[in-house]
Amino acid sequence: MIPVNQISLDGNEAKYLAECVSTNWISAEGPFVARLEKGVARLTGRRHAIAVMNGSVALDLAVAALGIGAGDEVILPSFTIISCAAALLRAGALPVVVDCEPATWNMDPAAVEAKITPRTKAIMAVHIYGLPVNMDPIWDIAARHDLKIIEDAAEEIGQIYWSEKAPPALTAALPDEGAEFAARIPRTVGSLADLSTLSFYPNKHITTGEGGMVLSDDDALAERCRALRNLSFGKKGRFIHEELGWNFRMSNLQAAVGVAQLERVSETIAKKREIGRWYNELLADLPWLQRPLERTEYARNIYWVYGVVLADDVPIDAEEAMKRLAEKGVGTRPFFWPMHQQPVLRRLGLFGGEACPVAERIARRGFYLPSGVALERNQAEQVALAVRDLFSLR
Ligand SMILES: Cc1ncc(COP(=O)(O)O)c(C=O)c1O
Repeated sequence: MIPVNQISLDGNEAKYLAECVSTNWISAEGPFVARLEKGVARLTGRRHAIAVMNGSVALDLAVAALGIGAGDEVILPSFTIISCAAALLRAGALPVVVDCEPATWNMDPAAVEAKITPRTKAIMAVHIYGLPVNMDPIWDIAARHDLKIIEDAAEEIGQIYWSEKAPPALTAALPDEGAEFAARIPRTVGSLADLSTLSFYPNKHITTGEGGMVLSDDDALAERCRALRNLSFGKKGRFIHEELGWNFRMSNLQAAVGVAQLERVSETIAKKREIGRWYNELLADLPWLQRPLERTEYARNIYWVYGVVLADDVPIDAEEAMKRLAEKGVGTRPFFWPMHQQPVLRRLGLFGGEACPVAERIARRGFYLPSGVALERNQAEQVALAVRDLFSLR
């Protein structure tokens, strides 16, 4: 079986974990947490990075830190992971969904303004699969309506967004794609909003097993995230609390793995792009298969995963295609299921009469191929053969 994700832990991961054990630093107080925060802040060009237990609670923390709560509405893509809507609902806020663009699978900025009401407090932009959200129009809308922005950058650590007008971030390493976007200004994904969140789940560009982060340039917001992450311990009396926080801390053990992963993040991203190029070449001539765009006018695909969508005239859907690929030893994952069609959210009385035709179509016809960083060329060739065989024979 070629798994949908294969990870690589052959850098300094074991060495740094052994260091945690030999120094007895395993809790969140240990030095690797600060090292990871500093390193990711540098990578993304942010002033502050706050490490947490996973990417889902990073969203809870961002929502809470921005003071989003009962009566507030937040606009987000329907085509995303449930963590985004769940964070809003847990805070008492209302998720308001927009459809995605058929070519990038990202939220459609043109659909946002129609959803704004006097209760709208923020936009949650989620970068999906490999291309960032077109942020320039999102920034314009947020500025016009005085809205906050949360950026869920879980899937695109290390990606660069090329803006038409925003000031450059304090970005560290830039990739060699400058000439292609000459008239635009590079901004690191993870620095495109008031608060940005990351996940370090094993399929992400940096993994800590489970882990996540909140990023910000705002001292007060960062301070608030740090307090809320750590049970909002009192400033005067440690156990006297002025507000309810969580224990969302990341342990030193997790961070040790993360620091080792961070040391190789450029290699990881280069490998992801190589995998993207392999599949582009191997699947180039299949008119019934929508492949990810190689680039847009504002970014080059980072291929966090290699998603494909079956054309409408293919007689089977994604579920059947994934079943047939599994029979041939190829692991896949379905695309996200739209928020407005989630049973749990519909039972809460949300999204009655909502339609997002693009999200609905790609959820049923889309899936992703093995895309892990340890994938080898011969495995990609086997995957491509299985895909070709499936639909050319039947
Ligand atoms: C866009 C996005 N946001 C949030 C998450 C949640 O992160 P975690 O699994 O670390 O909770 C994920 C997936 O893992 C994701 O893809």
